[in-house]
Amino acid sequence: MQDPHLIAAEAVNAMAAIDDPALLEEVKARYLGKSGSLTELLKQLGKLDAAERPAAGARINEAKQQVEAALQGRRDAIARRELERRLAAEALDVTLPGRGQGSAGLHPVTRTLARITELFHSIGFDVADGPEIESDHYNFTALNIPANHPARAMHDTFYVGPSDVLRTHTSPMQVRYLETHPCPAKVVVPGRVYRCDSDMTHTPMFHQVEGLWVDEDVSFAGLKGVLVDFMRAFFEQDALRARFRPSFFPFTEPSAEMDIGCVACGGAGCRVCSHTGWLEVLGCGMVHPNVLSPLGIDTERFVGFAFGLGVERLAMLRYGVNDLRLFFENDLRFLAQFREGAR
Ligand code: DAH
Repeated sequence: MQDPHLIAAEAVNAMAAIDDPALLEEVKARYLGKSGSLTELLKQLGKLDAAERPAAGARINEAKQQVEAALQGRRDAIARRELERRLAAEALDVTLPGRGQGSAGLHPVTRTLARITELFHSIGFDVADGPEIESDHYNFTALNIPANHPARAMHDTFYVGPSDVLRTHTSPMQVRYLETHPCPAKVVVPGRVYRCDSDMTHTPMFHQVEGLWVDEDVSFAGLKGVLVDFMRAFFEQDALRARFRPSFFPFTEPSAEMDIGCVACGGAGCRVCSHTGWLEVLGCGMVHPNVLSPLGIDTERFVGFAFGLGVERLAMLRYGVNDLRLFFENDLRFLAQFREGAR
């Protein structure tokens, strides 16, 4: 009879290098299967002397156990290697930063609107907003621009109904605000306005901030003081120069336009200021009694000043943007420059 331990050693050796589970089962069959070599040995036990049988049987069983232990060891090793392979293939580095972690930024026009309203709020102005679809009455008539008045032609109006328009300016909120708030009144109104106009320097929608201060002792000197201080704070230039030129608006009397010294060249003359050294930044004036009287405000007692400024224009000057259209194209390469920090 063959030595079962030699057979077992051969089996253990045969299995040692096997990685394929199917091959492993084949090797197992060769030794432990129905006609496997160790099984055959067991069958031969009967031919031995009765005295030798127990010892021989015990040795065969030991050999079988060795083979089975090696088999199990191989199966475990193959399973472990398969698990490792899958873990490696599906590996996730959970310490990597996720996608989309970059913070967004506010649009430069939004930043500028916020900056303007904050500066006025800090000196006691209320902040209000109003409807973008506005009636003919508030957009024009109540602002001393009667029907068929030539001043209506100053505005390229989008009509959305027989007597409704997209507001051409934020000035209608002067009237709405005074209808709902008793004097004294002190408010700024940021918002979108619309004009049927589109070229290099005009877009059909843009933003304005309206300002209104009605009180017993409001004066044109006060108007100048507030606006000069505002421009100096907005541009962070304490010595910024300003001048007021006579102008005309139906809802103010007297009316003026405010210029500031060019913030691009300091007044020497450049392309931004068309070589004049000055930049026109807003319209303003003392609120016309024809606006206040219909609201039941005693114009002998209360006086008001008002102003309206273009937000895109101030944003362009502050950030050195030379083309208005950049604000509306939503090119991320442009917008990303306003992500953090800038105010
Ligand atoms: N509403 C005028 C415009 O859009 C700007 C303006 C001028 C507003 C004078 C005012 C003002 O409040 O007093 O052209």
